[in-house]
Amino acid sequence: MQYPPNLRVIRVACSGMIDPEIVVYALSNGIDGIIGIGCRLGECHYLEGNEKAKAREQAIRIVLANGGIDPDRFRMEYLSSAESARFVEVVTNFVGEIKALGPNPLRQQKAADIVAR
Ligand code: FES
Repeated sequence: MQYPPNLRVIRVACSGMIDPEIVVYALSNGIDGIIGIGCRLGECHYLEGNEKAKAREQAIRIVLANGGIDPDRFRMEYLSSAESARFVEVVTNFVGEIKALGPNPLRQQKAADIVAR
């Protein structure tokens, strides 16, 4: 199955290992969007990693909003590794939503800062 080619998959052992600091850092440095995908709630192989990821999602969104970054550039989803069609649907929709938001303005600002040096 194919998914949008501008999506880069970064594997982690569990969605509970998605570091909020890295999410905020990446978006603060111009990444257009981040979608974290974990196992279905209640089905984490590490018992409660996805529950922790879910709890962190809202906190990350608040930090992003406070930093002037559209919080819709980050979200979590939960699905089984057997749901490949659902994976394609979720990431395709997310990429579409990010395209609708446009490029991350902080990337343009970073580029302008570099040119100004
Ligand atoms: S192993 Fe924890 S979310 Fe999948």
